[in-house]
Amino acid sequence: MENIDWKNLPFGYMKTDYNIRCYYRNGKWGELEVSSSEYIMLHMAATTLHYGQEVFEGMKAYRGKDGRIRLFRCRDNAQRFIDSASYIQMAAPPVDLFVEAVKKAVRLNEHFVPPYESGATLYVRPLLIGSGAEVGVRPSREYLFTVFVTPVGPYFKTGFKPVDVMITRESDRAAPLGTGHIKCGGNYAASLTATIEAQRLGYATSLYLDAREKKYIDECGPANFFGIRNNTYITPASHSILPSITNRSLIALAKDMGLKVEQRPVELSELETFEETGECGTAAVITPVGKIFDPQTNRIYDYGSEAGPVSVRLYNQLRAIQYGDAPDPHHWVEFIDDCE
Ligand code: PLP
Ligand code: COI
Repeated sequence: MENIDWKNLPFGYMKTDYNIRCYYRNGKWGELEVSSSEYIMLHMAATTLHYGQEVFEGMKAYRGKDGRIRLFRCRDNAQRFIDSASYIQMAAPPVDLFVEAVKKAVRLNEHFVPPYESGATLYVRPLLIGSGAEVGVRPSREYLFTVFVTPVGPYFKTGFKPVDVMITRESDRAAPLGTGHIKCGGNYAASLTATIEAQRLGYATSLYLDAREKKYIDECGPANFFGIRNNTYITPASHSILPSITNRSLIALAKDMGLKVEQRPVELSELETFEETGECGTAAVITPVGKIFDPQTNRIYDYGSEAGPVSVRLYNQLRAIQYGDAPDPHHWVEFIDDCE
């Protein structure tokens, strides 16, 4: 694909050649189908449109120095997809069907997987929607599972440079016992007002607090949050945040590196004690947080204009495993050509 400017790709949608579809009807999943259309036909009474029966995943395919294409922890994404779906009463594809669909989507669009060291990756977006027609509030009896892929650059334009974020108290992304822990579209709709407001004021995204007391840190934009203090990796435990697979990986890598790890409710007041802070996720990878602005107190927590040393080590180790530049002791990587 000589006419793609891999080094300057935004985190945006680009048409690729094929996507995968699979239909759930009469209580069972059909065969994987390949489509070259970017559109789906949907009944106007589909439950996804009216009652938000929709869940998705986000993962990436990485081309290594050896040219081979790797997926990172795709079975964990499959399991989270199932967990998300079952929480809002949707039928979900089994892990093997999910993984097969993802591998097929990547394989069929192989020439869209960016070259090694271009800074870009192929983003994979599995999506599940309630496609059956209902008017009463009830789960659909039919579902469409689809996977599309698109080459992307870094989620935050700065890449691995610190971004500034703003604390949000004016709206909540997720209710205390709501859907924050699953990857359903409603959470992202609920986050838009805060995100747009933060961006209007010059911040990359917003930092969400717990909805009940506004005392604890929840998440940071579409990513989990972590702080580093005294050789310890500290990250919030909360029912209303998405269990990030990147964060889970960083926890393991931090332990491998001899850091202590604390996953527990993290009070806002701890911000002043951190030496480094960052956000982590598939799209965000590790994005260091430079400044955190609290509009209630006008206080700015400043962690510096360069990534801190622990964040750098974690970032380098994570990327090295994802691209096949380092051994993979946790068996996180799968090759797209491994099975049919
Ligand atoms: N939190 C939210 C709200 C997200 O959308 C994402 C992205 O998937 C994450 C956290 C990070 O999760 P993961 O590392 O599994 O991509
Ligand atoms: C991801 O990190 O994969 C996400 O899903 C974030 C996305 C909402 C942009």
